[in-house]
Amino acid sequence: MWEEIPAGATTLRIRRPPSAEDLIDEAEFADDERLPYWAEIWPSGRVLCNLLAAMDLRGRSVIELGGGIGTGAMVASMRGATALATDWYPAAIAFSRWNAANLGLDMRAEVMDWRDPPAEVLADAPYDLVIGADILYEARNGVALAALIPRMCGPGTQVIIADPRRPDARPFIEGMQRAGWRYVREEVPVAGRVDEAGPIVHVHRFGPPPAGHNAPVVL
Ligand SMILES: C[S@@+](CC[C@H](N)C(=O)[O-])C[C@H]1O[C@@H](n2cnc3c(N)ncnc32)[C@H](O)[C@@H]1O
Repeated sequence: MWEEIPAGATTLRIRRPPSAEDLIDEAEFADDERLPYWAEIWPSGRVLCNLLAAMDLRGRSVIELGGGIGTGAMVASMRGATALATDWYPAAIAFSRWNAANLGLDMRAEVMDWRDPPAEVLADAPYDLVIGADILYEARNGVALAALIPRMCGPGTQVIIADPRRPDARPFIEGMQRAGWRYVREEVPVAGRVDEAGPIVHVHRFGPPPAGHNAPVVL
């Protein structure tokens, strides 16, 4: 199906599977408790698109974590960034590449499991901007991201995570703060479809601790 995602003054028109539920694979779930959340554009994903649409990203490098179809990376690319969409589902990356090409965007998309990032993605670090939407929905996600995100960042990196106030986001946020990361939170009302978490999405912004104060993020 086609879906339209408002992003500032433009609208992203993308194709995605009509039903995430129809893609549920018992074997995948048994193996790693994977569910095909990638096939939807979540309210936080829409908030992230809108926010990026207001940014001038010319000449910036951007990586999207758990991007699903990668709409955040697409908007970043439209705003002038060298953007990379990542997700652990190969099918998500196939949709990401198809949609980026259909929109005429010069954007990369690569399969990446947070727990085992490919060497070539790490080799391109530090990124100027690390983005994600609705990626802190399980406790194990926070643990994996707390280990991964510092490896993607340099002193000037900004991390932006849009999250619909999932309870499992809290240990990650607190762990980053304890490790000395600068932190600001913004509350953004959701326009359009609201999920079970309600009409407010939190936008979490982090900046690395000052040089020499880099402690591991422990949850
Ligand atoms: C709720 S969806 C959000 C998708 C998209 N960011 C959005 O907001 O529309 C969470 C995404 O995280 C991805 N994900 C979950 N665990 C992951 C992992 N260990 N490594 C990489 N991606 C993962 C899922 O495949 C899914 O695309």
